[in-house]
Amino acid sequence: MKNVILTLISLLFISSCGGSEARIDAILKLDAKDENGKSIYEANCSRCHGSDGSGTSLGPGIKSENDEEEIIEVTIEGEGSMPAFDHLSDQEIADLTKYSKSL
Ligand code: HEC
Repeated sequence: MKNVILTLISLLFISSCGGSEARIDAILKLDAKDENGKSIYEANCSRCHGSDGSGTSLGPGIKSENDEEEIIEVTIEGEGSMPAFDHLSDQEIADLTKYSKSL
């Protein structure tokens, strides 16, 4: 019985990691609009990363971060003291990522 529970727990763990990968893939396929991304960035990210992406005392500069997959992953999962933004919709994250890359 204990083994069954352990197996179930590890399956849940594996599928939750896989879920994020699948979500990243889905977001990468969307048609992103950076003009929509600007307001999402201003509302959620600029207080730590600065409106021009050059960073503040709360977060590092992200101007040189141009790897879409990395931006999406950090946005969904958070990193260190950066909170997760998994409540944003896939389309919002796609638009936001395109805008972040343009900084
Ligand atoms: C509360 C402040 C805060 C907010 C709000 C925030 N971040 Fe961050 N972000 C950070 C910190 C701090 C790090 C560095 C985390 C670490 O490496 O420990 C970071 C790291 C990153 C990185 C990785 C940079 C690198 O080179 O490793 C990206 C990309 C990023 N943030 C994008 C975003 C986006 C997009 C948003 C808006 C959805 C956002 N952040 C909102 C604080 C924040």
